[in-house]
Amino acid sequence: MELVLFLTGAGISAESGIPTFRGPEGYWQIGSRNYRPTELATFAAFREMPSEVWGWYLYRRGVCLAAEPNPAHVALVRLERAIGERFHLITQNVDGLHLRAGHDPERVYRIHGDLHSFRCMEDCSFDVHPIPDDLGPKWEKGRLPTADELERLRCKHCGALGRPHVLFFDESYNEELSYFESARRKAFDADALFVVGTSFATNLPNQLAAIAETRGIPLYIIDPEPGPYARLAEASGGGYFQGSAVELLPPLIEREID
Ligand code: OAD
Repeated sequence: MELVLFLTGAGISAESGIPTFRGPEGYWQIGSRNYRPTELATFAAFREMPSEVWGWYLYRRGVCLAAEPNPAHVALVRLERAIGERFHLITQNVDGLHLRAGHDPERVYRIHGDLHSFRCMEDCSFDVHPIPDDLGPKWEKGRLPTADELERLRCKHCGALGRPHVLFFDESYNEELSYFESARRKAFDADALFVVGTSFATNLPNQLAAIAETRGIPLYIIDPEPGPYARLAEASGGGYFQGSAVELLPPLIEREID
């Protein structure tokens, strides 16, 4: 077994109790209006109503902090420990569960950022800062941060308001914040690509699957829904495995390790 590349999406954390993006629980109410994540998780929305957008993210942060890594996250750590630098993980998830399960952070590219950090909304630097520990846990749904709480989310360098360190829907990938080139390079180096729980709704994951196809490496997909690449996976020498991450990933990894 040579370089094994994993790509994960919200589906791997579903059985930890974190709602997926496109599942039915995704809505958010502000005043009398319901927003979809695709409307609220944008830089345009953040500029217009930073307090409301921060309220949503701090609530989500609280949900993620209360969740625990599940056996699928743990199985990936076991594989990393077994094969070391031949393992690499690209994740779209901002929940922090992969790192909490025990991965070496150097081998995990978090291409959409994470819910536990913020950075300058004016981009005065690429530095990211931890969100204070008490902002998020037990956050009531719909609560807005107070003026004092927002003060604690200011850029440490220039004093501008901080923003969640996540890739918003109206933003593009880059290397500095989302490891765009590094992730693509890993796909060019990989001998197999394993994908768990993503709908392939964003650009970079699609590019990784396309690179795998062009190179003719085996593509394995675990997801209850076939999605756009199941047939490619079947034809690639890998396979599409229909079902949940917790049910299917640990036994697949045990077979790889043996
Ligand atoms: P989605 O919510 O779009 O898709 C979740 C995927 O997980 C779907 O294909 C489900 O079928 C699958 N799924 C659900 N339960 C599962 C389970 N128990 N085991 C395995 N798979 C399961 O989430 P993502 O594909 O991660 O981006 O979404 C990609 C990105 O879009 C997110 O990172 C976020 C979002 O908008 C940004 O914030 C930029």
